[in-house]
Amino acid sequence: MTEPTPWWRHAVVYQIYIRSFADSDGDGVGDIAGIRSRLPYLRDLGVDAIWINPWYPSPMVDGGYDVADYRAIDPAFGTMDEALAFIDDVHAHGLRILLDIVPNHTSDQHPWFQEALASPPGSPARARYLFREGKGPGGDQPPTDWPSVFGGPAWTRVIGSDGRPGQWYLHLFAPEQPDLDWSDPEVADEFDSILRFWYDRGVDGFRIDVAHGLVKDRSFPDLHGSSPKSLVHPGPYWDQEGVHDIYRRWRAVADDYGDRPFVGEVFVSSAERLARYVRPDELHTAFDFRFLQAGWDAARLRNEIDDNLHSMGPVGAPATWVLSNHDQARHVTRFGRPRTADVGVVESAGERVAPPPSSDIELGRRRARAALLLQLALPGTAYLYQGEELGLEEVEDLPEAVLQDPTWRRSGHTIRGRDGARVPLPWSGSEPPFGFGPPGTTPWLPQPESWRDRTVEAESRDPDSVLALYRAALRLRREHLGFRGDGMAWLPAPDQVLRFDRPGGLETVVNLGPEPIQLPAGRPVLLASVPLPESGDLPPDTAVWLG
Ligand code: NOJ
Repeated sequence: MTEPTPWWRHAVVYQIYIRSFADSDGDGVGDIAGIRSRLPYLRDLGVDAIWINPWYPSPMVDGGYDVADYRAIDPAFGTMDEALAFIDDVHAHGLRILLDIVPNHTSDQHPWFQEALASPPGSPARARYLFREGKGPGGDQPPTDWPSVFGGPAWTRVIGSDGRPGQWYLHLFAPEQPDLDWSDPEVADEFDSILRFWYDRGVDGFRIDVAHGLVKDRSFPDLHGSSPKSLVHPGPYWDQEGVHDIYRRWRAVADDYGDRPFVGEVFVSSAERLARYVRPDELHTAFDFRFLQAGWDAARLRNEIDDNLHSMGPVGAPATWVLSNHDQARHVTRFGRPRTADVGVVESAGERVAPPPSSDIELGRRRARAALLLQLALPGTAYLYQGEELGLEEVEDLPEAVLQDPTWRRSGHTIRGRDGARVPLPWSGSEPPFGFGPPGTTPWLPQPESWRDRTVEAESRDPDSVLALYRAALRLRREHLGFRGDGMAWLPAPDQVLRFDRPGGLETVVNLGPEPIQLPAGRPVLLASVPLPESGDLPPDTAVWLG
């Protein structure tokens, strides 16, 4: 008897940015009870699992990626009892749940960091983090010239017990996010225990934050101006060999519980480097951000797909495709820009780039519809980011006064950051808060008035809406035999067309060029990204699935 394929090898996972999904109590911030009330929506949408961004107690300096307690729930989101009942309810809806684990850094409010601050240099409490003496006279220069991803230096100096400036500590992100030292056995033991804590409570897996960053070159070399241009470039703190020992250890913990997949947030320089994270005794899956960064460009997409599949094949891991998340400008907006590969807001969760040029949102939305059929037709797993099923665009005109992303502050108010991808979802009604919270709720970020046409309620009435397309596509992906089997093969096609089939028989054609093309004759259309013309041609920026 052959083993059934594990669910996570072909799952569609829906990412929930908890602060912005659904607010049950009207405080303007989404919460667990809000998600719970929308589980029927997610089941009916047709996804297999949800991934929830960090829900732990946090000062929220970086949207919850500054964790103060890994075994509890932030009061803004609910209680532990609510979380446990919610996990049961997720399962009762036939869904699975992945949590977000943040092992590179804690909050500066975490008891460990508070203890480190109160302890002398060289103490065991300081050994859990990366405290070092400064350079230069009086140690008043940072130990290295490393920049923080959010801007400014990656080191902050603390005040010693004598009231005078003392050691420096490393924070690759905000100063409120001190990096842990993974060479300290206590750190590794603690995270084993955190994983078990949540597995014991029914959690099905984890997304790993900054999975490529946990180990630092302990010679602490200066970059001398050769500063990594973005997180994808190797550096003394990205993609160091030692991270693989950590994931072997984590995999052994996960395997004690059966099929509990990890998905790594891994930014590395190539698909081959990515594949090293998903070797059989390491992580199960890792996001392919190169697909996301390819823009609306047939040659680049084909390349990234090939690279990924050729690299994943030998290690036996499925590909993991993603087009948007809470760190990137929404792909409707990216695909409507003159240069569609410009990630624009904050590349790779940190690369700071110039303000993006304006976007043709209708064009971007048309391309996003086609991109969905491309993404879902590829072998492997797919991640969807909340709101993309409504065709939401990046909100690029949020008032400066409401911006919360640390990038805004750390860049000296020159880079707006990622809040535009995090605006609370519109569910119903014709004015804000659009059912995000009870009437009278003021969402933590303001929603555009134009979203009255993009609510779940409005799109549910319209058979041609983006939501209707997502529902139809997810149903087919789940039920149609054409999607079965691993792998894919390219079929002959003009340069700006992607055409491939799957072993189960599904054929996908995506026209990224400026001219209509003829579809192969005699194949029934299972689904088209927009209604097709009578001629049977495939117009520009359109995709079809053929049975
Ligand atoms: C990646 C997360 O997705 C992002 O939101 C966060 O700011 C950084 N890691 C730091 O934790």
